[in-house]
Amino acid sequence: MGDPARLAKLDLDNPEQSKRAWYMSRFANRFLALEGSGILVLDSEFRIVEISDMLCAMFDCLREEVISLGLEEWLDRLRIEPPPFTKTQLLGNAFRDRSWTWKSKDKRYAMMLDGEVLEDEGRQIGAFVIFRDVSNLIALEEQIRQSDRLKTIGQIAAGTAHEIRNPLTAMKGFMQLLNKTLSERGMGREQEYISIVLSEIERVNELVGEFLLLSKPREAKRMLVKASTVIQEILPMIRNEALLHNVIVKHYPRSDLLPIVADKELLKQVFLNLGKNAIEAMHGGGTLTIRECCYPDQPDKLAVEIQDTGAGIPADVVEKVFEPFYTTKQQGTGLGLSVCQRIVHDLGGRIVFATDEGGTTFTVWLPYS
Ligand SMILES: Nc1ncnc2c1ncn2[C@@H]1O[C@H](COP(=O)(O)OP(=O)(O)O)[C@@H](O)[C@H]1O
Ligand SMILES: [Mg+2]
Repeated sequence: MGDPARLAKLDLDNPEQSKRAWYMSRFANRFLALEGSGILVLDSEFRIVEISDMLCAMFDCLREEVISLGLEEWLDRLRIEPPPFTKTQLLGNAFRDRSWTWKSKDKRYAMMLDGEVLEDEGRQIGAFVIFRDVSNLIALEEQIRQSDRLKTIGQIAAGTAHEIRNPLTAMKGFMQLLNKTLSERGMGREQEYISIVLSEIERVNELVGEFLLLSKPREAKRMLVKASTVIQEILPMIRNEALLHNVIVKHYPRSDLLPIVADKELLKQVFLNLGKNAIEAMHGGGTLTIRECCYPDQPDKLAVEIQDTGAGIPADVVEKVFEPFYTTKQQGTGLGLSVCQRIVHDLGGRIVFATDEGGTTFTVWLPYS
């Protein structure tokens, strides 16, 4: 940088050095682009002496046309509101991390700008402005905020859930008493109302239970259990649900497989949730298949596969299914899979799924020992 006459002289005197300078400028441009940075260099009269490729691409201009333009003229030509910076700002104090966002025809830019006037013995010899692309960073921050939000919702839910549970228990108790009285007096129709209230209370209770499980899983009671036993015990519930949805249930138990150490009640919840999801995915009927397997290439794990013949999970939904409160169902809570994942993770296992238009298979991997 600096005196152009000196630079020209340098070229003649030392071709080797000017070749190096040429390489350096090419590489510098490339490095800056990779870093998501752009640079603008101005001379003592605030005319542009260098502009990097990234800025030319962003502002859709040609380097040759921009070089030696005055800063203000260039900014005017860009016709961007608000401008990334002004000459006055640059002449003031050096700025660091000045944020600037801009939406071009086809892209949204989030930038951080550093600018500074260079001085030599109290005389202005030029200035530079560096543009850093922070779009990715901002997206990442948004993700973190989102997961923080979910955590907070979980905590609030847990607190509220307790407060809801207590009055529910009282309501349930009194309803049962009332039911008895009504039955003694032979009031059949009123008894029906009570049974509706009781089943609704049960629904709220289950929902609250899921909330609690999500935010603070209860103390697990671990013991040796066989997957086939666990599934056998929930099968009546699953068959019942399947009947309502015109779904055929096939279960292939493998009593020869070794037991695993787990909390039986929590495991039941996992298979029940997955079974329910599978049934709900098959509008107009289908087949639910539950398999227990141990694959030779993964001998230390048990696999339980829950397969449906539904329409599959759409691509835009796939990433979100395990998110708490994510649901595509009118009556859904979006907590089923989060709860399943939490329980299975606590056992050192994992849940994976494969899906296409022919249906979805959720596989629960659980380690032996
Ligand atoms: N077997 C499946 N087939 C298709 N979509 C599914 C399946 N299991 C889960 N999903 C999708 O994942 C979402 C989240 O499931 P879940 O956490 O159990 O909550 P909910 O069942 O209350 O919606 C569902 O709303 C559904 O869109
Ligand atoms: Mg569900």
